[in-house]
Amino acid sequence: MKEQIAQVQAEAMEILSKAADMKELEQARVAILGKKGTFTRVQQGMKDVPKEEKPVVGALLNAARTEIAAAMDQRLAELQAQADAAAVSGVDITLPGATLPAGGLHPISLVREEAVRILRRMGFTLADGPEIEDEWHCFDALNTPTDHPARNEKDTFYFDSGKLLRTQTSTVQARVMEKQAPPVRIICPGSAFRRDAIDATHLSAFNQIEGLYVDREVSVGDLKGTLEYFLKALFGDETAVRFRPHFFPFTEPSFEIDVLLQAAGQEPRWIEIAGCGMVNPAVFENIDLESGKNFYVGCTGFAFGIGLERLAMIRWGIRDIRLLIENDVRFLAQFQ
Ligand code: DAH
Repeated sequence: MKEQIAQVQAEAMEILSKAADMKELEQARVAILGKKGTFTRVQQGMKDVPKEEKPVVGALLNAARTEIAAAMDQRLAELQAQADAAAVSGVDITLPGATLPAGGLHPISLVREEAVRILRRMGFTLADGPEIEDEWHCFDALNTPTDHPARNEKDTFYFDSGKLLRTQTSTVQARVMEKQAPPVRIICPGSAFRRDAIDATHLSAFNQIEGLYVDREVSVGDLKGTLEYFLKALFGDETAVRFRPHFFPFTEPSFEIDVLLQAAGQEPRWIEIAGCGMVNPAVFENIDLESGKNFYVGCTGFAFGIGLERLAMIRWGIRDIRLLIENDVRFLAQFQ
């Protein structure tokens, strides 16, 4: 019996080491350990072994079985490794993988996030309003009379219902003040729409950030200090900024703000990036009258509306605003 065990084990090891693939290995397993396998048959001899020898023979059988099983596992691992190597033969797995082109944020989103971050740090909170607006919030509340050119059909997209695509984010000034008591310190990034001919510095759908600060004894100095600080935080301390007197119906006095654009291959030129001014008392009166709440008696404040496309142009020296809507990846990839 002992010799038989040693012999069947030696044979088993030999067969296993010669199994050339998974199929042959499985056949070897059946031939050795299957119901009629060589090892199984030797094992069945146990019943004829004298009682006193059973423990010794049993231990030998177990040891042999363990070794056969280990040899089987080892051969399986070898064959698996061979199959894996064959599957990738001719492939250099150390080459870098094929990368998919990754998207990135549009420059308008980048500059908006940066601008909002700076303004929030200064104490402004976010406000919102609809892009489809009524004439009251877009014009009447903001002291813009019916015969004002901005209200002309030629300049504004009207719906048959009389509603319109807001021409400015200043609508949000009215929307906030009709609900909220002062002090007010809000910003609103958003889209605005005008029937403008598209050229190097104009789009008909564009983006602004509106700002409104209302309290008591707010001054032009606060306005100027706030916006200069903002522009320098965004563009750097050396940024050239100028305030020009202007007219807006909803502010008095009013200003336009220019920043020097230094685009590659072009003479530096002043670009208008924002309108601003001290809130016209007529606006407070309109809103108090409409809301019936008289929140704004005795208040002063400043407001501003910044063009986001213009900010992006200055931030990166972009010479033509149309590049921002053409979706040319050669242009957009530069911002990733
Ligand atoms: N709404 C103006 C525009 O779109 C910009 C503007 C000017 C906004 C003065 C303001 C302001 O808040 O005070 O041209």
